Amino acid sequence: MGVVILGTGSCLPAKIVTNHDLEKIVDTSDEWIQTRTGIRTRHVCGQDEQTYNLAVEAGQRALDAAGVTADEIGLIIVATMSSHTLMPASACLVQRDLGAVNAFAYDINAACSGFLFALDLGYRYVQADHGMKILVIGAENLSSRLNWSDRNTCILFGDGAGAAVVGYREGKSGYMGSRLLSDGHLWKLLYMYAPKSSNPQIVTDDHPGTHIVMEGREVFKYAVKAMEDAIHGVLAKEGVALDDVKLLIPHQANIRILNKLAERLAIDKERVCINVSEYGNTSAASIPIALDEAVRSGRILQDDLVLLCSFGGGFTWGATLIKW
Ligand code: UT7
Repeated sequence: MGVVILGTGSCLPAKIVTNHDLEKIVDTSDEWIQTRTGIRTRHVCGQDEQTYNLAVEAGQRALDAAGVTADEIGLIIVATMSSHTLMPASACLVQRDLGAVNAFAYDINAACSGFLFALDLGYRYVQADHGMKILVIGAENLSSRLNWSDRNTCILFGDGAGAAVVGYREGKSGYMGSRLLSDGHLWKLLYMYAPKSSNPQIVTDDHPGTHIVMEGREVFKYAVKAMEDAIHGVLAKEGVALDDVKLLIPHQANIRILNKLAERLAIDKERVCINVSEYGNTSAASIPIALDEAVRSGRILQDDLVLLCSFGGGFTWGATLIKW
């Protein structure tokens, strides 16, 4: 215990794409998108705006909120599946631009669950070394990874970044625990290939391109049940009742998934963070963006119990309980 989030930050690119803009690109309608997903707008990166640029901005805001300087950070972890370079990791460019001269840095990829998995890593480092401060970031430029002629996916996703500084405070309870899971059996329901090889000996025809491919209806079915189970799992593990949780911050994929989850948990919607209408699905960035908004708007106060939950490609999913 004593591992806490010292500050949060987030960043959305300035450019906004509306459903009406998408009507001009694919055979869809504002009405269909709003009814089936709850999404009205999403932010997308402009030219020369990369995943790490958003991560740097979110990271700086988290440092400012925490009252921590970049040189105090010992580790930077960026959760992403849309780094514009596979090497170096986006985290290294964040380290450079923040001037985090004492930090080592790497990326992880757990798709939409990336932030929860990275936060758990941060927790474990600080638990082992109380002097360490860690910058955990979820950042995505998914607009660069979409097939803009596939109406099943291009209407869903958005770009953005969210960050948290993890550190130690004597006597505070902080991060309580996680229930994190993965199952690779159903990976073909939601995936994105790496760039196609140019080696003629290993090139295959089975490569739809380096963009997101999804069987949405199937993914939907698994998402609700998986998040519900993970939430019950972490609550049971920590001996906490759902009624005692102040705020649930789920991964923002689709308003219907969020409504269904709230219904199955029998939790009042006032206690669920929802911003999918504005940002769409920002994958690893969605939870830290919502967390930052909740903190800054005063929805989370000291000693509140906060529950985060996610579901994404892999499949990967989980729930994390934090005492603020
Ligand atoms: O980030 C974590 C992982 N991702 C998710 O959690 C996403 C989970 N899935 C979903 O959110 C939903 O399944 C979608 C929003 C992707 C799709 O909604 P749906 O209600 O499951 O629709 P559907 O895929 O069953 O498609 C229904 C119909 C189809 O037409 P037919 O076959 O009934 O004639 C689609 O071709 O809607 C059609 N359709 C569209 N129509 C207008 C699919 N996309 C669009 C579109 N505009 N953009």
